[in-house]
Amino acid sequence: MSFTDWILLGVGAFAILGALGAFTIAFRRSRSDRPEPTAGTSAETLKADRSMEGVRVEPIAVPSEDIAVSEETAPDIEEAEPEPVSTGVAVVETQRVVEVTPEESGVSRRQFFNRAITATFGSFLALFGLNSLAFFWPKLTGGFGSDVDAGAVGDLLSQTVTPAGTTVPVFIPEARAYVVPAPQELSEQYEGRSVEAAGLMALFQRCVHLGCRVPWCGTSVGFECPCHGSKYNYVGEWFDGPAPRNLDRFVVEVRSGDRFIIRTGTIIETPRAPEPSVNYPQGPSCIG
Ligand code: FES
Repeated sequence: MSFTDWILLGVGAFAILGALGAFTIAFRRSRSDRPEPTAGTSAETLKADRSMEGVRVEPIAVPSEDIAVSEETAPDIEEAEPEPVSTGVAVVETQRVVEVTPEESGVSRRQFFNRAITATFGSFLALFGLNSLAFFWPKLTGGFGSDVDAGAVGDLLSQTVTPAGTTVPVFIPEARAYVVPAPQELSEQYEGRSVEAAGLMALFQRCVHLGCRVPWCGTSVGFECPCHGSKYNYVGEWFDGPAPRNLDRFVVEVRSGDRFIIRTGTIIETPRAPEPSVNYPQGPSCIG
């Protein structure tokens, strides 16, 4: 994979970690969002009882005879109108503290919106990360990014150079590559880079200027990009136009005696050739 692919893989992995982090924060916040049971309680009361968390207050009935009357309330009683004497027992309300379970307290509106927003954001990040990883992960079982079997060497040699001596590249869709005959003498810039095997090379179809697919031109015997006019000879060496280098090519090898393998996971870049290896153009251009 190229450096850019590794960067994008890193972005995908970072998105997944971000989603995990968001879920973790949401979980912790949902626990800490429970209303504080001591809210509104005076400092003196809190100091007197620091074990109020997770409780509720509910009224209970207590007979008045069980309530002690303090000295301070005595004058008010004396100034009040005398009331008829009751034969029953007066009941006054007081309060008691009861522990509350999380199920009883339920989910507040604030908690609900916090969880909904975090879940939505986290799901988006997770999907983005997974899709990025799936798209850029190197394919190990076939297809572009893996080693592609382009066919038997003998077949490819006979197709790329016809009996009349005409050069015709063979396009391998799975590898996104043109298989072309290698030049008689390999340029120094390809030496030691495994871009030739059994007299064949594999060129990446993508124009190195801005990425258009470069078609073959049979009349000029070369590749000519219709987007901005870059031209390359039949072994992919730059000839004209804004392309900054030769067409990219893949590492190739022969396996099992005669199978031509294109290793599409390894792209070789080379600068504009100082001396072209083959003649171009050999006839009229296709793009003018
Ligand atoms: S993309 Fe090929 S010349 Fe610009």
